[in-house]
Amino acid sequence: MSKVTVVGAGNVGATCANVLAVHEVADRVCLIDIKEGLAEGKAMDIMQTAQLMGFDTVVEGVTNDYSRTAGSDVVIITSGIPRKPGMTREELIGVNAGIVKSVATQVLTYSPDAILIVVSNPMDTMAYLTLHALGLPRNRVIGMGGALDSARLRYYLSQALNCNANDVDGFVIGGHGDTTMIPLKSFMTYKGVHVSHLLSDEEIDDVVKKTMVGGATLTGLLGTSAWMAPGAAAASVAESIIRDQKKMIPCSVSLEGEYGMKDITIGVPCIIGRNGLEKVLELQLSQDEMEQLRNSEAAVRKTTAVLKDLNVL
Ligand code: NAI
Ligand code: 2OP
Repeated sequence: MSKVTVVGAGNVGATCANVLAVHEVADRVCLIDIKEGLAEGKAMDIMQTAQLMGFDTVVEGVTNDYSRTAGSDVVIITSGIPRKPGMTREELIGVNAGIVKSVATQVLTYSPDAILIVVSNPMDTMAYLTLHALGLPRNRVIGMGGALDSARLRYYLSQALNCNANDVDGFVIGGHGDTTMIPLKSFMTYKGVHVSHLLSDEEIDDVVKKTMVGGATLTGLLGTSAWMAPGAAAASVAESIIRDQKKMIPCSVSLEGEYGMKDITIGVPCIIGRNGLEKVLELQLSQDEMEQLRNSEAAVRKTTAVLKDLNVL
């Protein structure tokens, strides 16, 4: 029996639980929230699509009772406040650090071997906090941001090429922030052909720019941060773990010397399987990309340093 708990039944959490159910990623999904009745209502709504969508996964909703999350293989943390138009992800740290630490502690009480996927923002710093405050091995804490940013990159690339998003490839590393993420130009391809054969430098730069502000664009349109692609992206990381797919997904993980970095949690290409983080891929980056990674590292370190002032570590 496989079980995934999703903490936070808001926009991202409920969407994630829905994708997990529709794709039958796990036998059971537990959706838990602090707000009375919210998780129960969202879970019931999802379960009422079971016959329509033809899935067997059982989704249950729970208010605050962490004993009901027991036996989870994977826990996805989406609890916390989202950004509003004009806000950065980094501005959420004061509220979200306390929430993330508290829920991670409670889920581990009942699922001591679970692999944790951290979604709450500022995500790189929340993943660092979860890893260090709870003293977990690095394979068990995975920050989700790169999966989303890479899906956005492929969307914008397919728009530029007027093609199917499944025919393009490319990914994003670095911090999950408007100025810290790095859509890697050297790995953008269409059916194996580097996009420089098909797009001008200006067109490629435009894809990069749109990807970097992809979250802010949606926040401006929606009045709160996006949830469809974020929920699906978190579910895709959980799926790679539960099904031991060993997919290459850019995730925010703790580095132990890879890319010349230590004591930081930041987005890099990872192999994700049954053990969580199974390998960090060290790719040959261009000089320009390496320089961008150093700048991103500095920005992520700056946000992560705030944890010390908040007394949560
Ligand atoms: P939301 O406001 O719709 O949902 C958050 C939920 O967390 C609420 O239902 C709230 O009641 C719950 N919550 C708050 N404190 C809790 C606690 N102590 N225990 C359990 N539940 C608690 O927000 P949304 O849009 O779902 O976003 C959630 C988080 O995910 C935000 O921090 C947002 O910035 C982040 N996010 C991260 C992305 C990524 O790629 N890493 C992408 C999109 C959002
Ligand atoms: C997003 O990228 C705000 O992290 C959130 O949509």
